[in-house]
Amino acid sequence: MACLLLGYASGSWLGALWVCRLAGVDDPRLAGSGNPGFSNVLRLYGRRLAAATLALDAVKGMPALGLAMAFGLPPWAQGVIGLAVLLGHSYPPWHRFRGGKAVASAFGVLLVLTPGVAMCCAVLWALLAWRVRTAAVASLSSAGVAPLASLWLAPDYVLVVTTFTALVLVRHLLNIRRLGRGDEPGL
Ligand code: G3P
Repeated sequence: MACLLLGYASGSWLGALWVCRLAGVDDPRLAGSGNPGFSNVLRLYGRRLAAATLALDAVKGMPALGLAMAFGLPPWAQGVIGLAVLLGHSYPPWHRFRGGKAVASAFGVLLVLTPGVAMCCAVLWALLAWRVRTAAVASLSSAGVAPLASLWLAPDYVLVVTTFTALVLVRHLLNIRRLGRGDEPGL
């Protein structure tokens, strides 16, 4: 229970807001896609702040997962703690439950639980973002591939990874609508 609460609380700490505050730039929720995440920070403020946002959102779940591993919790329980991190990021109580899309935080959680799957997703994300220049296409494709990569590389985590994918899809519903209309902002 302590790991779950720590996971949710640390997840709800949004890297984008802190990075932008520290850099003295405007809140990323006020411009671009309005999403407090690394893609919108990249769009608005460039690579340096985006990299800092990605790093913070990716590492924030690690203490809770490290504790879970130290306690010897089984993969499914570690996955539930990872999900708590993603839920904290997506529905932070301090921001009226309006958070981000859980892509960077899912990457960080997967890096701990199943690094091979995390790296497959990261490579695919980078390739698609480079070719298509649309963050949501890269994120949705990586999220879609993650359960398959897990089936191949880390079968114990398939259910967990599929849950992460479902959450990422739900958090991208607006992007999916915009992609359908053809007015999704590029990177
Ligand atoms: O990582 C989030 C990305 O998939 C979408 O972000 O800002 O384009 O809505 P954004």
